[in-house]
Formats: sequence, structure tokens, C-alpha cells
Amino acid sequence: MQNKDMLSNLVFLLLLPISLVASENTSFTYLGFQSANLSLDGIAGITSTGLLKLTNGTKQQKGHAFYPNPITFKNSSNGTASSFSTTFVFAIISEYPTFSSHGFAFVIAPTRGLPGALQAQYLGLFNNSNDGNSTNHVVAIELDTILNSEFGDINDNHVGIDINSLTSEKSAAAGYYDDNNGAFRNLTLISGRQMQVWVEYDGVEKKIEVTLAPINVRKPKTPLLSLSSDLSPVIEDNMYVGFSSSTASILTAHYVLGWSFKVNGQAPELDVSQLPKLPRIGGKPRSKFLTIGLPWIIVSLASVAISAVVYAIRRKEKFAELLEDWEIQYGPHRFKYKDLYIATKGFRDKELLGAGGFGRVYRGILPTSKIEIAVKRVSHESRQGMKQFVAEIVSIGRLRHRNLVPLLGYCRRKGELLLVYDYMPNGSLDKYLFDQPKVTLSWSQRFQVIIGVASGLFYLHEEWEQIVIHRDIKASNVLLDGELNARLGDFGLARLYDHGTDPQTTHVVGTLGYLAPEHSRSGKATPSTDVFAFGAFLLEVACGRRPIEPREEADDVLLLDWVFSHWNRGEILEARDVNLGADYVAEEVELVLKLGLLCSHSEPAARPSMRQVMQFLEGDFPLPDLSSLGLCASGLTFAHNREGGFSDFAMSYPSSGDRFTQSSFAAESLLSGGR
Ligand SMILES: *[C@@H]1O[C@H](CO)[C@@H](O)[C@H](O)[C@H]1NC(C)=O
Ligand SMILES: *[C@@H]1O[C@H](CO)[C@@H](O)[C@H](O)[C@H]1NC(C)=O
Ligand SMILES: *[C@@H]1O[C@H](CO)[C@@H](O)[C@H](O)[C@H]1NC(C)=O
Ligand SMILES: *[C@@H]1O[C@H](CO)[C@@H](O)[C@H](O)[C@H]1NC(C)=O
Ligand SMILES: *[C@@H]1O[C@H](CO)[C@@H](O)[C@H](O)[C@H]1NC(C)=O
Ligand SMILES: *[C@@H]1O[C@H](CO)[C@@H](O)[C@H](O)[C@H]1NC(C)=O
Ligand SMILES: *[C@@H]1O[C@H](CO)[C@@H](O)[C@H](O)[C@H]1NC(C)=O
Ligand SMILES: *[C@@H]1O[C@H](CO)[C@@H](O)[C@H](O)[C@H]1NC(C)=O
Repeated sequence: MQNKDMLSNLVFLLLLPISLVASENTSFTYLGFQSANLSLDGIAGITSTGLLKLTNGTKQQKGHAFYPNPITFKNSSNGTASSFSTTFVFAIISEYPTFSSHGFAFVIAPTRGLPGALQAQYLGLFNNSNDGNSTNHVVAIELDTILNSEFGDINDNHVGIDINSLTSEKSAAAGYYDDNNGAFRNLTLISGRQMQVWVEYDGVEKKIEVTLAPINVRKPKTPLLSLSSDLSPVIEDNMYVGFSSSTASILTAHYVLGWSFKVNGQAPELDVSQLPKLPRIGGKPRSKFLTIGLPWIIVSLASVAISAVVYAIRRKEKFAELLEDWEIQYGPHRFKYKDLYIATKGFRDKELLGAGGFGRVYRGILPTSKIEIAVKRVSHESRQGMKQFVAEIVSIGRLRHRNLVPLLGYCRRKGELLLVYDYMPNGSLDKYLFDQPKVTLSWSQRFQVIIGVASGLFYLHEEWEQIVIHRDIKASNVLLDGELNARLGDFGLARLYDHGTDPQTTHVVGTLGYLAPEHSRSGKATPSTDVFAFGAFLLEVACGRRPIEPREEADDVLLLDWVFSHWNRGEILEARDVNLGADYVAEEVELVLKLGLLCSHSEPAARPSMRQVMQFLEGDFPLPDLSSLGLCASGLTFAHNREGGFSDFAMSYPSSGDRFTQSSFAAESLLSGGR
């Protein structure tokens, strides 16, 4: 007995180093994942045909798929990371041809699955507290299909090398260099086409190369990305390899069809002819009803033919749309009226979410995709300017930011325009603030909302390819998604009435109490008129009161004056919402209230830019001393700046001056200014 035990121990000891050496050159190949024993979590799954499906139709989730065994990336004797190579074939299929949910990534991580990671823009890799931390020990190759400016993304269709952070070390627009002539060929990641990726790390040269190509193209000689970086400090001795993906609000499926990997060598080639087939998009099985039920149909048809014709005519009228030649190019953004009608159950009152200055908003569920939407019906008689407006709406539909409500598309009918947005389950912010709300937000939630709206507006003003002016910032235009993240809605809609054809409004649009004095005077919307409205918004969130509220004492009608008088008495904190109770951070409340006053300065040039607002809110910059800015209570407006105080402020932020000049050349378009 004892001898046998000793013997087996001996055998075990002898085997141990052998198995270690053998694992140095770990290699595997999957052509389809039918019999693969991958470690899956979240919404990742294997389809019956053997596709690895990283995400299914569930929104705001993540999915991981990892090779089940750890891989030895280092010689225990030598701290340098070994060379490795991997290749995989993927396809991303989105509900819409021009935009999608977030992308996915090949990942090397210390754990099988990444606990604590978030969905959406975090790709299931990191969360907001560990993004960028070198203790992550994560290397990822991201195939990113959304532009997230907070991570410095270059566009909404790129490949990036990520080390411990979603801010890529290096990234490039998706595409490849043609071997024949060296020309760069664009690829669209979300095209639904199969593409292959090669990732190679040279442990001696300390270089990572990433190459992308359509499936029918041999591996291009010139890589798309090449980064000199020693992965030895990042990669630990034993690591797991796999894929990570996440969804947001748009139905997108991320498929991996085949995958191979090897340490210290070239990953085995994938025989693409053996890969499983992608599902047919939109393919529906034919019903046998037509053949079996046909005789019966012929008989009944005669009797219903007449009523059918009548019905058809009525139906045609009911679902009639306006579709002009110039709209053909907007195909993907154009919704069928019939679909919207069915989605909202015929615009039933029960589905009504709200009614505002611009129209009524209905909740709906799109018939085929089951996506929840909000449909805004805007009555609009004039055709004048409609072409330009729709062009702008479509352009705005390409804006993607986590603090903006995604605009999915539009539909046009006689006298009516319908705008289709993502549905925001928690409704608009105003109902959490005013008139003895049933649910109030805590201070930390309010502060998050403020930062969210500020970064959304910053994106519109400065981070997108064109300047977008919102024109109607107020609590009721801020919506809360499922996680109470603030999202700005209705951007650009005010522009519709700028054409001056609506009898109710004149040139100036926006909402009283949020309108900058110079905007009412000149009718010109600029980024700083948005900042003015943002100031009013800050005050209403902190005070829980509307900017203009009829009250008994005449003095209290204007919120701005009311806060100003508290500030003047040196007790600005007393202006805060009483509903907050004792739950607030005094420094933050004070910052928000003072910033609200600063943004409400009657002199546009004295207002900060949204970039500065972000810096103040994040504590990167101290707020200037308000008393030096020549503020004084005089109705809605502050006094014009005196000599001295304010100009010092302007000089200490020279960039703001530039931006205001930039904005005031006010191009004709909504996207580049206002008029
Ligand atoms: C691992 O790969 C290296 C380089 O390709 C080779 O020299 C070595 O013999 C391989 N080791 C094993 C155990 O296969
Ligand atoms: C997606 O996967 C998750 C987890 O397996 C499951 O709960 C959910 O119902 C799936 N959603 C769809 C639309 O299949
Ligand atoms: C599959 O992987 C799990 C670990 O993820 C392991 O426990 C199990 O034994 C494996 N099964 C097979 C058949 O390899
Ligand atoms: C240690 O790593 C270096 C590369 O940085 C390599 O040149 C050397 O051969 C390695 N030493 C051993 C003993 O493997
Ligand atoms: C790993 O160690 C072995 C010997 O211990 C050496 O031959 C090999 O080059 C090392 N590999 C790397 C990548 O350093
Ligand atoms: C972020 O992820 C880390 C590591 O996975 C985890 O420890 C931490 O709890 C997460 N933080 C949050 C706020 O989710
Ligand atoms: C990185 O994470 C570690 C532990 O997860 C934490 O102690 C450290 O403070 C983090 N560093 C930064 C800069 O956030
Ligand atoms: C490729 O895409 C870039 C923008 O991503 C664009 O500027 C360029 O014109 C495109 N090239 C071709 C040949 O389509």
C-alpha cells in the first residue's frame, strides 16, 4: 500500500514539470463551438448551430466567453511575457444598418469572467471605478461600434488596443491595407459581414500587431495597428483568454464563428469553409397555410372581396405617409407609419407619456423587433424647410452619448412629423422635483444627474463633429433611464419652429425662465444661450422649484432672484430644496447653486463654457469668486459687468472668449449654430 502511494506520488512529481512545459505552448482551435467547453456568463450562449453568441436580445447586459483553462503566459524563471497569437472570425448584426449597440473585445484577463465589470460602454471589461487601474491586468483588443468621447474614441467604427483601460493605447478606424497596392479599405464592423481578426504579440520585440480583413481576404501583410509595448508587467503568469461584449439599447448580436490561439507560435489557421453559418437576417419560414388552406380561401374570398376593397382603401388612408424623393437616402431612419401606429396601439391615450410644447409623446413597442420606443407627434403644416430639418434630424440621429436620449428615426405624414426615440423607463426629471413629488431624488442622485446633463451638453457643444445647440434645456427635457442616468432629450426640435411658420411662436423658441436675455433680444441661439438655460436647470435641481413660479409674495416669483438674494445675504445654502432634509453635501450644493448663478449671468461672455462647467463640477478648477463678477439683483438679469471684476475672469479663461466668437458667427444650420 505504502509503496503504491509513494510510487504514485513519484509518478505525479515526475509528471508535474512535464505538464508545465507542455502548457507553455498551449494551442487550441475551434471551428464552431458546438462541442466547446467554454466558460460562459451573462447573456453569452452557444446557438444550436455552434455559433458563439456573445449577446442576445436583452438590453443593458454583458456577456463573457472564456477558454476554460488558464494559460501559462510566462516562464516561471523569467518574468517576461511569452509571445502569443490568436485569430478569430466574427460578425456583428445590428437591428439598424447605420448604428448599433456597443461592440466586443478579445480579452486576456486574470479571471475567467470579469466580476464587477459593467455593460454598455464598458464592454463588460471594466467599471467606472477600476477603468485605467494597473491592478486590472487586462489586455483587450476592442472592436468598438460606438463613439464614447469619455474614452477618447476616434469614431464609432474602430479597432483599439486596450491595456487596463477603455481608453485605447492605440486605435484605428476599421479597415485593412490592400496587399496589391497598399490602399486602405474601409470596413464597417456592424455590416453583418464576416470578418477575421489576427492578434500577435512578439515577446522578444515587445510588439502587438492587430490585423483585420473581410473573411474572403487573406491576412493582409500590413497590420492595421502596431504598438510597441512590453506586456510583461500587465500579463501575469497564468491568465484566461476569451471574449467580452455588452449591449445598450439597440438590439445587436455579436457572433464569433471560429477561434484559434497559441502561445509561442502562430495560431493555427481557421478553415473558413468549416465555420457554422450565420442566421439569415429577416428570413422567415414559409407557412404551409397557403397551400393547405387555399381551397377554403377561394370560397371565402368571393364573399369578402367587396368588403376587403373598402377596407383596403380606408387602410391606405389611415396609414398614408408623405415620402418624397429626397428622403430615399434616409431609408434606414425612416419608420413606417403603420409600424408606429401598431406600436402605440393606434396612439391610444393609455400609451400617452406626456404632452409638451412640441407635441404629444406616446409609448410603444415596435411590432417585429419588440423594441420599446417613445414616439413624439409634432404637428407641422409647412413643407418649407422640412428637407433641411429632416437632414438635420437624421444627422442628429447619429449622435451617441450616454447622456443623450437616442433618436432612432422619423416618419412624416400630412401635417405631422413623428420622431422615434429610445424609451426611457423612468420618465422625465421634473416629476421628481416639483409639486410635492411622490419620489424625490437624493442629493447624490441629483449631482449625478447634473454631471450627466453637463457632459451631454458638453458633447453637443464641443465634442461632436459639428456644434449642436440644444435650445430647450430644462428639467422636463431631461429623462432618466433604467439606472437613473440623466439623458437629454428633444435636442434640435426647437429648430423646427425657427422657420417662423408656427403661429403660436415667433422667432424665439425655448421656454420662459430658461431664455437668455440676449436670446430674446436677438433671437440668436448660441452655446452660451444653452449655458444660460443650464444655469436655470442647476437652480431648479438644487432648489426643487421651477424657474418661474407664481407665488404670493411677488419677490419669490423668479427662482434666480430668490437664490441671488440668499447668496447676497451670505446664506446661499438656505435656498436648497427642503425635501433633501439632512441628506446633502454642503460643498456640492453650494457649488451647484453658485454655478447656477454664474451660468445665469446676463452677459453671455461672463458665462462659462460647458467645458469649464465640467471642470468646475469635477473640482478640477475652483469656481471664480462671484462677488467679483458684478452681480446685482435687478429682476431676471444681473447687472452688466463693471470694469475690473469680470474682465479678470474672462482673461483667466481665454479659451471661452474664442468659443463665444466661434459660436456667434452663427451659421444658418442648427448643427453649426443658430440664427
Ligand atoms: C514551444 O515553442 C517553442 C518555440 O516555438 C519551441 O522551441 C519549444 O520546443 C516548444 N515547446 C514545446 C514543449 O512544445
Ligand atoms: C438572454 O440571456 C439571458 C441569460 O441567459 C436570459 O435571461 C434572457 O432571457 C435572454 N434574452 C433573450 C432575448 O433571449
Ligand atoms: C468544462 O470546463 C469546466 C470548467 O469550466 C470543467 O470543470 C469541466 O470539467 C469541463 N468539462 C469537460 C468535458 O471538459
Ligand atoms: C528572458 O527573457 C529575455 C527576453 O526579455 C530572453 O531574451 C531570455 O532568453 C529569457 N531568459 C531565459 C532564461 O529564458
Ligand atoms: C522560457 O524558458 C525556456 C527555458 O526555461 C526558454 O527556452 C524559453 O526561451 C523561455 N521563453 C521565453 C518567451 O522567454
Ligand atoms: C469594479 O470592478 C472591480 C473589479 O472587478 C470590483 O472589485 C469593484 O467592486 C467594482 N466596482 C463597482 C463600483 O462596481
Ligand atoms: C486601483 O485598485 C486598487 C485595488 O483594486 C486600489 O487600492 C487603488 O486605489 C486603485 N488605484 C486607483 C488610482 O484608483
Ligand atoms: C473611409 O472612412 C473614412 C472615415 O472613416 C472616410 O473619410 C473615407 O473617405 C472612407 N474611404 C472610403 C474609400 O470610403
